This record gives sequence, C-alpha cells and structure tokens, in this order.
Amino acid sequence: MIFIGTDIVEVGRIEALIRRWPQRFVDRIYTGQEKAYCERQAVPAIHYAGRFAAKEATRKALHAAGQQFTVPFKEIDIKRDHLGVPSIALGSSAPGNPGPYRLALSISHTGQIAIATVALESDG
Ligand SMILES: CC(C)(COP(=O)(O)OP(=O)(O)OC[C@H]1O[C@@H](n2cnc3c(N)ncnc32)[C@H](O)[C@@H]1OP(=O)(O)O)[C@@H](O)C(=O)NCCC(=O)NCCS
Repeated sequence: MIFIGTDIVEVGRIEALIRRWPQRFVDRIYTGQEKAYCERQAVPAIHYAGRFAAKEATRKALHAAGQQFTVPFKEIDIKRDHLGVPSIALGSSAPGNPGPYRLALSISHTGQIAIATVALESDG
C-alpha cells in the first residue's frame, strides 16, 4: 500500500516565529544539520518553511498509514543528498523505527510558500 501526506506552509509564518523566539523555535523543531543548512542559505526562513512542511507531511503520511503516535518534529530529520534530493530519517522515538515502510519526500518553495509531499510505502 502507498499512503501520502502533504503540507503547505507560509514562509512569513515561519519568519514571524523565528523573529519571536529566535533560539527556542529553531532548537525545538529542527536538528543541528537542518539548522546549519538553512542558515547557510540567502533566506533561511524559506528553507525552514520547506522543512516544516516536510515534517508535517511526514506525520500525515504516518497517520494515514495507521500510526497513532505523533513523531516529535525533531525526530523527523530532513536530509539532502549531493544533488539536493531530500529524504527523511526518523529518530529513535518513532515507533517501530525502522518501520515496515519506506518514505519518499519532495519539497518546493517560492519566497512566500513552501510545500512538501511525502509518500509512504508500506509492506503490510
Ligand atoms: C534541482 C531542481 C530540480 C530544483 O528546482 P527548483 O524549482 O529550483 O526547486 P524548488 O525551489 O521548487 O524546490 C527546492 C527544493 O527542491 C529540493 N531539491 C533540490 N534539488 C533537488 C533535486 N536535484 N532533486 C529533487 N529535489 C531537489 C530540495 O528539497 C529544495 O529545497 P531545499 O533547498 O530547502 O532543500 C533544479 O534546480 C534543477 O533541475 N537543477 C539542475 C541540477 C542542479 O543544478 N543541481 C544543483 C546541485 S548539484
């Protein structure tokens, strides 16, 4: 079976959260590697927004597949390969990780919005 999750995030909303809680918001939601990548970009909030959408989309795909537990944001690590292709690494608190499923992710953004789609392929 294949399950999907999608999410759309306004970059301005993320910008406002970062401005309001500069340290707290980022440290609560993002891993060190995610933060390092976003902070290297010309407009970090765009990339934080993409990763936020990816984390929400991951939760949706997991819930759609029947998982009851909501994985903490920081346990959903959005990685990039040498071409920029994003992928998801779930942390140790995700139930049954590595689960009987595989995850695939795509992210897109403009200066205003970011969107992410996750496909979950389940063995069951
Ligand atoms: C890679 C490419 C498809 C991205 O298109 P784009 O319209 O600029 O991308 P969007 O703004 O919609 O989305 C950006 C997101 O796409 C994802 N992405 C980046 N490169 C990607 C790739 N090669 N394949 C799949 N997804 C990719 C990332 O998640 C990125 O977000 P991030 O920078 O926050 O991680 C396009 O730039 C391209 O074809 N470039 C040619 C290859 C290239 O130059 N690669 C550079 C790295 S060597």
